[in-house]
Amino acid sequence: SRPHIVDVIAGDGIGLEVVPAALRCVDALAEQFGFAVTWRDRDWGSERYRRTGAMMPEDGLARLADGDAILLGAVGAPDIPDDVTLWGLLLPIRRAFLQYVNLRPVRSLPGVPGPLSDGSGIDLVIVRENVEGEYSEIGGRIYRGRPEEAAVQETVFTRRGVDRVARFAARLAASRRGGLTSATKSNGIVHTMPFWDEVVAGAVERINHSGPETPIRLRKVLVDALAADLVLRPREHDVIVASNLLGDILSDLASAVVGGIGTAPSANLNPEREHPSMFEPVHGSAPDIAGTGIANPTGQIWATSLMLDHLGESTAAAALLAALEAALASGVRTRDLGGTAGTDEFTSTVLDHLTTTTEELSDA
Ligand code: NAD
Ligand code: IPM
Ligand code: MN
Repeated sequence: SRPHIVDVIAGDGIGLEVVPAALRCVDALAEQFGFAVTWRDRDWGSERYRRTGAMMPEDGLARLADGDAILLGAVGAPDIPDDVTLWGLLLPIRRAFLQYVNLRPVRSLPGVPGPLSDGSGIDLVIVRENVEGEYSEIGGRIYRGRPEEAAVQETVFTRRGVDRVARFAARLAASRRGGLTSATKSNGIVHTMPFWDEVVAGAVERINHSGPETPIRLRKVLVDALAADLVLRPREHDVIVASNLLGDILSDLASAVVGGIGTAPSANLNPEREHPSMFEPVHGSAPDIAGTGIANPTGQIWATSLMLDHLGESTAAAALLAALEAALASGVRTRDLGGTAGTDEFTSTVLDHLTTTTEELSDA
C-alpha cells in the first residue's frame, strides 16, 4: 500500500522537542510493521511569523488538504499575542477541515500517581465540540473609546453542530460502558445551554432507538458540579460530551487527575474523513520549560498512537501505546511526573520497550 502522507507542524516551544520524539517512535514502528510514512515537514509557527508576518503560507490550508493526517506540536509564544498565533494556525485548521470532534481520552497510566490518589482505575473520554459554541467568530468585539467600554461575543450552537458531536459521543458511549455525561450550564443563566441539552437528548434518543450494543444512559450535569465530580469520583465517568470552552477546561482538569497535562492526547477528528484530521497533545507550548530538554513527550506520543489508529495501522498504534505504558511502568519518568529523565531519555526508553512489547503482541 502507498505511504501515508502526514503533515508535521511542530510549531512552537516544546512542540519542537516532543514532535521529534514522536517521529522517532513512528520511524521505528514503520520498520517493524512494514508501512511507510511520507513526512511533509512544515516550519509553520511563531518563528515564521517573526520572519514573514504570517504563521503559515497564504495557501497553507490548501497544502494540507490532500494529506492523510496532520501531526501538530503546540502553538503559542510569549512575545506574540495568542490571538495572532492561534487564529493564524491552529484554529483555522480545525475549522477548515471540519474537525468538529475533539477526542480526549483520559486514563490512569501505570506507575503514574495522580495528585489526589494513586490515580488508578480511571478510564474516560472527553468528546469536545471543536468548531463552534463559545469559540464562535460572531460578534467578537471590544467597544473602546466610549465611557462604558465593553467586550461582546456571541456563543453559537447550531442544531447540526451539536447533533453531530452528540451522535459521535453517543455511539462511542454505546461501544464502551454506555455512560454519557453531558456538561451543561442550563440553569437559566447561560441562555444557549437549554438548546444544547435539547439537541443532545434528541441525538441520544435516536441512537437508543436504533438498538445500540449498550443502551446509553444520558446524564446532564451542571459543569461546576461536574468539575468537582471529576475530582471526587473520576472512575464513575465513561464518555463526557461538552461544548468547546467547557470541554477545553474539563480536559485539562481530568488529565491533571491522572497525573498531569503532559500525558494527555487530543485528536481533532473529521469523522466523515472528507478532510484530514489533526493529532496533538492537550498541552500548549510551555514557554516556561521550552528549550531545556525536560518536556514530557507522553501526550504527543499517545496522540501519535491515535493518529496511527486513524491511518489504519491499528497494530502499530497498540504497540506504541503498550511501549509507552511499559516505559512509564518501568519507573523512567520525566520531572513533571516526579522523575528525573529528560525528553530524549524517556523517548529512548519507549523505543526500547517497542521491540519487547511488539514481540509479546505477536505471541498473543
Ligand atoms: P501549557 O500547557 O503550555 O503549560 C502549562 C504548564 O504545564 C506549564 O507549567 C508547563 O511547563 C507544563 N507543561 C505543559 N506541557 C508539558 C509537558 N509536555 N511536559 C512537562 N510540563 C508540561 O499552557 P500555558 O502555559 O497556559 O500556555 C502556553 C502557550 O501555549 C500559550 O501561548 C497558549 O495559548 C498555548 N497553548 C497552545 C495549545 C495548542 O497548541 N493546542 C494548547 C494550550 C495552550
Ligand atoms: C487546546 C488549547 C486551544 C483551545 C487554544 C490554544 C486555542 O487550549 O487545544 O486545548 O482552547 O482549543
Ligand atoms: Mn486547552
